[in-house]
Amino acid sequence: MESRPDEVRQPDEVQEPDSAQRMDQARRLLGSARRVLILTGAGVSAESGVPTFRGPNGLWRTRRPEELATPQAFQADPKLVWEWYGFRRERVGACRPNKAHVAIARLTLENENVRLVTQNVDGLHELALEEAASDGSYPAASLSRAEPIRLHGSLFRTRCTGCGDRTLDRHPVDVDSEASLPQCKKCAALLRPDVVWFGEELDPQILQSAIEAAEAAEVCLVVGTSALVHPAASLPLLTRESGGVVVEVNTEATPLTEVAVVSIRGPAGKILPRLLPV
Ligand code: APR
Repeated sequence: MESRPDEVRQPDEVQEPDSAQRMDQARRLLGSARRVLILTGAGVSAESGVPTFRGPNGLWRTRRPEELATPQAFQADPKLVWEWYGFRRERVGACRPNKAHVAIARLTLENENVRLVTQNVDGLHELALEEAASDGSYPAASLSRAEPIRLHGSLFRTRCTGCGDRTLDRHPVDVDSEASLPQCKKCAALLRPDVVWFGEELDPQILQSAIEAAEAAEVCLVVGTSALVHPAASLPLLTRESGGVVVEVNTEATPLTEVAVVSIRGPAGKILPRLLPV
C-alpha cells in the first residue's frame, strides 16, 4: 500500500537475536504479576495514524511547542492555539484504535489488578474500551475501573478559563475569529483545550492515583514513550524503587531501556497482542 506522504512507515518487528526469549521473559513477568501498571505514550497510537511528538514527522519537529502548547501562547494568541487543537481534534477524530489499544482494553477489563496510565490526549484508549465493552459482556463497574488515568488531559474536552468547568466536546472548532472561539455555556468566558500544557502542573488527584498505581505495581509495562517528559517518565522508576520491575516496548531505545529488565523492539500494534495474556 502506497503510504500517505505524512504517514510514518512503521518498522516491522525487529528480529533481534534474543527477541523470542525477551517476549517469553516479559510474558512470564506479566503473567505472574499480581498488580500491573501500563504506561503509554504517543507511540501506542502511531499505527493508528496519530503523529508522535518527537519521532520522524513528529508534531514538535515542525512546530514550536512554546507557540502552541503553553498558557503564555494561549494568552498571546488563543485563535492560533485553537487552530492547532482544532486541526489535531479533526485529525485524531478520524483515527481508529489499533491492536495495541484493543489488547490493553481487554486486559484492563478482564483483570482488575491492571491499571492504565496514559500521556495521550487522543481518546483512542477510551474508544477501544467502549468498543470492547459494547457487547455488554462486562459489568459497568469493570468499565469504570478500566478507565485510563489521563495524565495530560484530552483533546475532546474543554476547560473554562473563568469558572473552570470541564466539558466533553468533540465538535469542530470555529476559528474564524477570536469572537467565534468556544465560550463557556455557564459564564461565557473563553474555553481552552483541557490538556496539560508545558509549564503547567498535572492535576494533583490524577497524579496521586498514578503514583499509587506505580508504587503498587509489580510490573510496569511502558509502551511507546520517549520517557523525556516528567512526571510521567518517573512512574516506572517508582515501580522499581518499590521492588517491582520495568518492561519496555518501543521501536527505539529510550532512557528507560537501561532501567527495564526486558526491552522489546518493535511496533506496539504487533507486539502487545502477542505479549498480553488476553
Ligand atoms: N510502537 C511502539 N513505540 C513507538 C511506535 C510504535 N508503533 N512508534 C513510535 N514509537 C516510540 C518512539 O520511538 C518514541 O520513543 O514512541 C515514542 C514517542 O515519543 P514522543 O513522540 O516523545 O511521545 P511521548 O513520549 O508520548 O511524549 C510525552 O510530551 O509533547 C508532550 O504532552 C506531550 O504526552 C506528550 C509527552
